[in-house]
Amino acid sequence: MLKWLQEKYHAQIYTFTADLGQEFADPSRFKQIEDKAKQLGAIKHFTVDLKEKFVNEYVFPTIKANGLYQGIYPLSTAIGRPLIAIEAVKIAQKEGIEVLAHGCTGKGNDQIRINTTAQAYAPEMEILQPLIEWNMGRDEEIKYAQQHNIPISNQNKKYSVDENLFGRSAECDILEQPDIEPPEDSKEWTVPPEEAPNNPEYITINFKEGIPIGINDQPMEGVELIKRIHDIGCKHGIGRIEHMEDRAIGLKSRETYEIPAALILIKAHKDLEKYVCTKHENSFKSLIDQRWTELVYDGLWVDPLRDALEAFINEINIKVAGSVSMKLFKGSAEVIARKSPYGIYDLNLATYETKSSFNQKYSYGFIPLWGLQSRMGFIAKKKANENKQ
Ligand code: ARG
Repeated sequence: MLKWLQEKYHAQIYTFTADLGQEFADPSRFKQIEDKAKQLGAIKHFTVDLKEKFVNEYVFPTIKANGLYQGIYPLSTAIGRPLIAIEAVKIAQKEGIEVLAHGCTGKGNDQIRINTTAQAYAPEMEILQPLIEWNMGRDEEIKYAQQHNIPISNQNKKYSVDENLFGRSAECDILEQPDIEPPEDSKEWTVPPEEAPNNPEYITINFKEGIPIGINDQPMEGVELIKRIHDIGCKHGIGRIEHMEDRAIGLKSRETYEIPAALILIKAHKDLEKYVCTKHENSFKSLIDQRWTELVYDGLWVDPLRDALEAFINEINIKVAGSVSMKLFKGSAEVIARKSPYGIYDLNLATYETKSSFNQKYSYGFIPLWGLQSRMGFIAKKKANENKQ
């Protein structure tokens, strides 16, 4: 893209890489990206460490909203895009750059997320998507790179990968065939569950106001905490998912992900939240969560509705405090216990073991009233069925 922009528009190119924790096992990768950009003619390169911002302002709200798109995908890529767009615009405005170019195709969700956010923050900014302009397929792009001596890694040749500390997504090549199991070489983070350790591992995650604040009662900052959970999850083969996904633009698309930290943290959060909320709060919260998740997935991070939904989400999360214990074993992460000072559970009421303070005689009054209208409806419908011609 960098080469093509110079050739086609004789443009001066400034490049920007956002560090959202991708490749976090290997920080030298960012230096390689910078060297490559300069070698291909970039005037200036910016690498910005956004890990902390990403965790506090994007990952934590996703955990609080139990953000699983279509019940499966934890928005790892979706929440990275608005942050990248905001930071790119900041750099552009500072450097007097007039056009923002990015590597999204015209088929995906990411273009919506980046363009909508960038144009909300900088309405005057022009946005260019070379991948739409040049109209090459992936095979031709690879050929273009080879012809212009642009180094690309083997893995990149095959799959289109997006990565940050909340998840990794891989697309293209054989993954486009939804009737074939994703091959092992499309995974990079997690071990295959069948090769994970034969003994389970137990972890306890501590929460305060809906946010994870420690592991096994050891307090930890967000970025560090997610890295730790990520490592433990990868070791046990957790968070390999594949998804027949409905994109914002209407295409169905086969998506594959590795999301160990996201899966563990959202599961733990959801369990604790359920424990401290009434059934009415739980039922309504799941509607709000779904609305939040779809808004964010669909690229509308800047929509004021998100603030309004988050006002509700944050209110609910004030009491999401305590800890959740999970058992990690060969690809599964199951909640096995939870504890909270605000749990709406009373052993004395719930127990079957000893005489409890729950007055079972109330049932004689409660059930006839609770079921009254349903019983009447049942009888009325029966009559209607009998009179049906
Ligand atoms: N389908 C996901 C989303 O829309 C991930 C797309 C990531 N892009 C990629 N080239 N792997 O959020």
